[in-house]
Amino acid sequence: MSTCNGESRFSDQALAELEAIVSHYPERKAAVLPALYVAQREYGGWLPAAALAEVARLTGRPLTEVQGVATYYTMYNLQPRGRHHLEVCTCLTCGCLGAYDVLHRICAELGVAPGEVTDDGAFSVAEAECLNWCAEPTVVQVGDRYFTGLCSDDVPAWLRELRGSDAHTVVAQADSVVRAILPATERPGRQVA
Ligand code: FES
Repeated sequence: MSTCNGESRFSDQALAELEAIVSHYPERKAAVLPALYVAQREYGGWLPAAALAEVARLTGRPLTEVQGVATYYTMYNLQPRGRHHLEVCTCLTCGCLGAYDVLHRICAELGVAPGEVTDDGAFSVAEAECLNWCAEPTVVQVGDRYFTGLCSDDVPAWLRELRGSDAHTVVAQADSVVRAILPATERPGRQVA
């Protein structure tokens, strides 16, 4: 939907959630971070310019301020992601115990390089810093879940399983954060993939 104030993707439910979140803070300004998560969910897992503008409008903050917040924190996606975003830990422990074999196998299977999205939009791949689960390398974060102990030979079957799954998507991850912020009593039930 377009309005004179710009594009709006927030559903009525998202608007209600945002107002419930705002009510937890002394100032509307404090809701910018959770509002960005609501926007990330509503805009399909990332924050295009229109999403930042909508958050600025809904929170009553200058666009430059919202842009500053969104670009500071790495958990906000400023580029389109695949439906499943694969973040492969290549930090010291995982890196020494096969993470690059896993990363290269993922990229070869999907035909992408780190930082890219597959043509069908199903996957994107990135390297990640230590995910703090060093005892079970290789660790790959997919949305709201850690997959651990992966080796290169596991990758093809694992990707097939993920491709057919509605769980752990970028949208579901943003929704899980909103759910964590907003008590269930204040949140209408919803199912997202
Ligand atoms: S080095 Fe991979 S989880 Fe810590």
